[in-house]
Amino acid sequence: MKIGILTSGGDCPGLNAVIRGAVLKGIKSYDHEFVGYRDGWRGVVEGDVMELPRSTVRGISKQGGTILGTSRTNPFEGDGGPENIQAHMDRLGVDAIIAIGGEGTLAAAQRLTEAGLKIVGVPKTVDNDLDATDYTFGFDTAVQIATEAIDRLRTTGESHHRTMIAEVMGRHVGWIALHSGMASGAHAILIPEQPESMETVAGWISEARDRGRAPLVVVAEGFAPEHFEGPHSERGLDAFGRPRLGGIADKLAPELEAMTGIETRATVLGHIQRGGVPSAYDRVLATRLGMAAVDSVVEGNWGTMVSLRGTDIVNAPFSYALENLKTVPQSRYDEAKILFG
Ligand code: F6P
Repeated sequence: MKIGILTSGGDCPGLNAVIRGAVLKGIKSYDHEFVGYRDGWRGVVEGDVMELPRSTVRGISKQGGTILGTSRTNPFEGDGGPENIQAHMDRLGVDAIIAIGGEGTLAAAQRLTEAGLKIVGVPKTVDNDLDATDYTFGFDTAVQIATEAIDRLRTTGESHHRTMIAEVMGRHVGWIALHSGMASGAHAILIPEQPESMETVAGWISEARDRGRAPLVVVAEGFAPEHFEGPHSERGLDAFGRPRLGGIADKLAPELEAMTGIETRATVLGHIQRGGVPSAYDRVLATRLGMAAVDSVVEGNWGTMVSLRGTDIVNAPFSYALENLKTVPQSRYDEAKILFG
């Protein structure tokens, strides 16, 4: 059997570990062959592949990014569509596809599977917003990177007696903010699921200052204060029609400075959260998911993704993962809120 692998959407630490896990498992257990599609769905739509013999995955699980390249190409646009993709698969002798991606990628994979293509998925997102899986690889690394950066912001904030606001990624959920904020002891954590008022946020900042602390605020890029109509977006839509987020910290900083009288600085951590080597946890999870995806192909579990449930890897239909965003539950926010101010 020949399997095509693609990595699509925003890159994420651990992608290479998935590829290595899949290729090693497929070669050792089933004598499969592998090709890698270049740059996500673009490679699938154009039939642009590279061979993936065992030597190409040597030592890559600790490598950031993806050796295959990625893109946010929508496989239904341009020359895309199921018939064109199947024709390329037939020409290349590819029997099935493993699609490693987040919400946009898996939604496209679901539509292609419904049209008869043989695809299994591997959930990927630093945002940890996919339902039907407890955690996604990349999230642990992103939280670690964000926490280290926020720890650094704290010392410069303390020296200058300033409020420091760190903006982290996460799209429409607050998982990275919640975890990095809790880990770094932030005085306020602002997440999309909880649209607090500016007065409340200013109150937490003032409380921290009154105790002699340099206030530290972690805000998720998708957070919108009560008086905003929606999350801050000024860079248009991505290929899947979703607003590109980012920049809320710069909006909040002058308002909070005016309200509290404390000099305030904003830092947007941005893509640094997705770069570099994956954590050991992410390497292990990603490797296990890659191996399980090959078993899924052998079992013909088309239209499903491999997912983490507790410590087990199981299968879940794409529809389960896509039905709802995995948001931060109220209980997790309430737990963290005790520590604010
Ligand atoms: O979904 C992952 C993510 O990093 C989000 O947290 C962020 O909003 C988005 O991708 C950034 O996308 P791009 O890499 O296209 O700028």
